[in-house]
Amino acid sequence: MCGIIGYTGKEQALPLILGGLERLEYRGYDSAGVALIEDRRLVVEKRVGKIRELVKSLWGKPYKGKTGIGHTRWATHGEPSTENAHPHTDERCEFAIVHNGIVENYLELRKELEGKGVKFRSNTDTEVIAHLIANAYRGDLLDAVLEVVNRLRGAFAFAVITVHEPSRIVGVKQGSPLVVGLGEGENFLASDIPAILPYTRKIVTLSDGEVADITPEGVNIYDFNGNPVTKEIMVVPWDIISAEKSGFKHFMLKEIYEQPKAVGDTIRGLISSGEEPPFSLKDFRRILMIACGTSYHAGLVGKFWIEKLSGVPTEVVYASEFRYADFPVDERDLIIGISQSGETIDTKFAINFAKRKGAKTLSVVNVVGSSIDRESDYTLHTHAGPEIGVAATKTFTAQLSALYFLASSGHPEKDRLLSELMKVPAKIEETLDRSEVVEKIADKYMKKKDFLYLGRYLSFPIALEGALKLKEISYIHAEGYPAGEMKHGPIALIDENMPVVVVAPQDRVHEKTLANIEEVRTRKGIIIGVGFEGDEKVEKLSSEFIAVPPIEEDFTPFLTVVPLQLLAYHIASKLGLDVDQPRNLAKTVTVE
Ligand code: M6R
Repeated sequence: MCGIIGYTGKEQALPLILGGLERLEYRGYDSAGVALIEDRRLVVEKRVGKIRELVKSLWGKPYKGKTGIGHTRWATHGEPSTENAHPHTDERCEFAIVHNGIVENYLELRKELEGKGVKFRSNTDTEVIAHLIANAYRGDLLDAVLEVVNRLRGAFAFAVITVHEPSRIVGVKQGSPLVVGLGEGENFLASDIPAILPYTRKIVTLSDGEVADITPEGVNIYDFNGNPVTKEIMVVPWDIISAEKSGFKHFMLKEIYEQPKAVGDTIRGLISSGEEPPFSLKDFRRILMIACGTSYHAGLVGKFWIEKLSGVPTEVVYASEFRYADFPVDERDLIIGISQSGETIDTKFAINFAKRKGAKTLSVVNVVGSSIDRESDYTLHTHAGPEIGVAATKTFTAQLSALYFLASSGHPEKDRLLSELMKVPAKIEETLDRSEVVEKIADKYMKKKDFLYLGRYLSFPIALEGALKLKEISYIHAEGYPAGEMKHGPIALIDENMPVVVVAPQDRVHEKTLANIEEVRTRKGIIIGVGFEGDEKVEKLSSEFIAVPPIEEDFTPFLTVVPLQLLAYHIASKLGLDVDQPRNLAKTVTVE
């Protein structure tokens, strides 16, 4: 987590760095800071809170430096405070560093430095790097960084500047993401591509174990032993307009409305790019899907499709659980990593672990060039464009598209299945047209303290996803359950104050779900039913009814998730909460 950015070139660095930090804010937002080289002096400004607090504190300050680094933080070591905010410096304030990730052996290094009389100012793991580099510096920043980097353990990316070499930034990648942007007479470095997209589309993605030596004139990449590395330059197809709000109140709402396009673009993109992997799902004894959060829920839906269309037994595992379990994985298995960012550390670990065990690895990833994209044998890209809201929405339905595409590959009726899938974007559009109903329901129930979400079969993962959306942005307690599990415990929670969202499309388990609705009704629960338009049974049993257009059973998750996203959005927005940047969260989770 945390976002880092660096600039060296012909322009004043501060506005470029602040602009980039705003675009990186989704990675963490409990404090922020910048360091600039001003007339061979280092100035460091930091504030607790969001980037706007830092921007306010800088108003009217005459900084003109053309080299600088910036940071937005999601605290791991040390609470959010000005002292713990980045950049961190050495004792003489000659070196400044911004860092994303964790230095696992920092206590040992700190003890060693304190033993030599170094005085620490913060509780962070990062500060050790600043002192180590200052101690190792003998006239060449790159040499000092290379000396230090081999002493650090953990997953990290950092950037360092020094007053001794005022137009140079050295960046290091080991486990956390870092990209270099190439300009004319100026160069950039950032945790993520959107941060620097307004300035350049020419990107070099660093791999683990690489160091970038950046000046306005050029960029050289080395491995940790100082050997030069040749890298490919990627030209990013995204456009910065797609990372702006385009008149919507929040990015999340805009992204919910972008779903017809995200799904359409993903299906078309996969069909036309021929990204279909050169193997059949049937070649494997088992498929393991590994993911976190919303991507995990997409995996749960994908499992039903894959098992139905290919017959291959499929399991879905939380990446954080996979990591420390003894899963027997070998060359007979296909491991599918699902990740919007392509940087989630546990999912990335799973892919690398599976590769070492000889399994084939395939990823479903939105960010082209991300670590998981590069490290998997095959990738199916979701073409959802950048997603800025911390709550995943359009990337979820785009992941579903990619998983259905994969499940149908090799199926004798593949063309028919894909042409049915192509009808989904128009149906999502129709679903979005009914959003007013959802807003009214949000108004009515926004003060409730707990919600239950129920569903069966393909609608169970959607119940989980609806509950996750509500809790992460509205801070209301919500649980997703298989509707049939109610009577094994959760039904005890039902009373006249409990809203129960039931996802009940007309599918193979419809009658069973209706029975579960009855059970809730008998106990006076408030039923918010999501069902097909014209489904009088669900409508009659529900206190509130949200209709989605009828669609083939397999595609129901694409539609039923939309009102649940909107319900969470409207509740959070009406409660006046920070929808795009909910508390305690970050868009990309690069720590365990
Ligand atoms: O980038 P990833 O898809 O790997 O991220 C996984 C989760 O961190 C992510 O889905 C998270 O749960 C979202 N905030 C959900 O809205």
